[in-house]
Amino acid sequence: MQTLPLFLPCAAGVEGLLAEEVQRLLPELCPRSQRGGVALQGTVGDVMALNLGTRLAQRVLIQVAHGPYRDEADLYRLALGVDWTDWITPRHTLRIDTTAHRCPLKSLNFAALRIKDAVCDQLRQATGERPNVDTSRPDLPLLLHLDEQHATLYVDSSGEALFKRGWREDAGDAPLKETLAAAMLAAAGWRGTATEGGALHDPCCGSGTIAIEAAQIACGIAPGSKRRFAFQQQLPFASAEQRIDWQRRISLAQSAIRKSAVPIYASDVSFRMVDFARRNAQRAGVEDAITFNGGDALERPAPDLPAAMPGTLMLNPPYGERIEALGKAGAAARAAPPAAAQGNDNRSAPPDFFARLASHWKRAYTMHPAGWTAYVLSPDMKLPGTMRLKESRRVPLWNGPIECRLFRFELVAGSARSMRAPGSE
Ligand SMILES: C[S@@+](CC[C@H](N)C(=O)[O-])C[C@H]1O[C@@H](n2cnc3c(N)ncnc32)[C@H](O)[C@@H]1O
Repeated sequence: MQTLPLFLPCAAGVEGLLAEEVQRLLPELCPRSQRGGVALQGTVGDVMALNLGTRLAQRVLIQVAHGPYRDEADLYRLALGVDWTDWITPRHTLRIDTTAHRCPLKSLNFAALRIKDAVCDQLRQATGERPNVDTSRPDLPLLLHLDEQHATLYVDSSGEALFKRGWREDAGDAPLKETLAAAMLAAAGWRGTATEGGALHDPCCGSGTIAIEAAQIACGIAPGSKRRFAFQQQLPFASAEQRIDWQRRISLAQSAIRKSAVPIYASDVSFRMVDFARRNAQRAGVEDAITFNGGDALERPAPDLPAAMPGTLMLNPPYGERIEALGKAGAAARAAPPAAAQGNDNRSAPPDFFARLASHWKRAYTMHPAGWTAYVLSPDMKLPGTMRLKESRRVPLWNGPIECRLFRFELVAGSARSMRAPGSE
């Protein structure tokens, strides 16, 4: 069967995890992790499987042209070299996006225009008609990447970015992207079984992204099963055989859904957020797999787990300008005289929120025989010092443009390697 060169872009730092995920989804393929994504050769069936199954990739791109260029005329010729009648008819729509790194051209818009002209001119010559542009929901989204000397043209088989799983309607103030929540779980090796991660608790759940991603993993729900993809409009995927193959994949995905083997908890001090999270979980098909609660993360008792089941705390806590800490710590900060807040944005987590959180964990989460492990995503490289906890691992991850670390803390009673003496750095 014919294979196509594929590229799956992902957030910086996630490349290795994505290569492992692709290998798990399609064991016969050879994904190569590169800067910014994973490259591989795959069939149209693999493109469907990847769109349906990847939690970490931003898109599934099919490379259709690659070559050197000096000006827009070279780009026009490059695009003319593709047989677009294999991809669309004049009744389909298209859109061209560009990305560039050290590109010498003056206008990326003009570069995109020349690609559009090439596609339209070729189809008009072949059929007498030309397709239209649709900037919101094109059937054929194309991505042109330009570096200093080379241009690469991709068909985007996904359409809307893959972090849009199709279940989020209620977002809250600073929701994590679904792909980042999935990357946190993957970096933690959390697989939704009693031996790989155990129970999961997000005590600052916001709109529920971490818990919902986790619950879908634990229930075997394919991340792409609740949405549509651009490839469903594109000709290589439109034959009766390919449509049957897609339906078969959807049915198989449905029959793979199971009951979660581990308990998953999500709570937030804001009842409004808990309500958002619950509604999102309902749309994601995992409402029954998650126990939702309101409550202050500084006071909530640890969930009661079976003695042999380890627990994973995972959160992106309130931090910085977009989200303030609420509850006990927030009230204390608001009551404090302005001098106490010097150097801190009013809407930031109050200075002692993280120290209090760590003290609470030491009291409430260290008694469990199988242990709890906490994972905290933060842009603050000094967070372990602030929490007076010694991290056992720090994984670089990017939250959009913000460089973060996923800190791992082992919450084991009396463990010297996890608990730092107060005041030590
Ligand atoms: C950065 S947001 C989390 C976003 C979430 N991961 C999502 O994807 O929507 C931080 C959350 O912490 C909550 N929060 C602030 N202070 C808290 C506290 N003391 N206890 C529990 N939750 C708190 C806020 O209500 C907010 O929803």
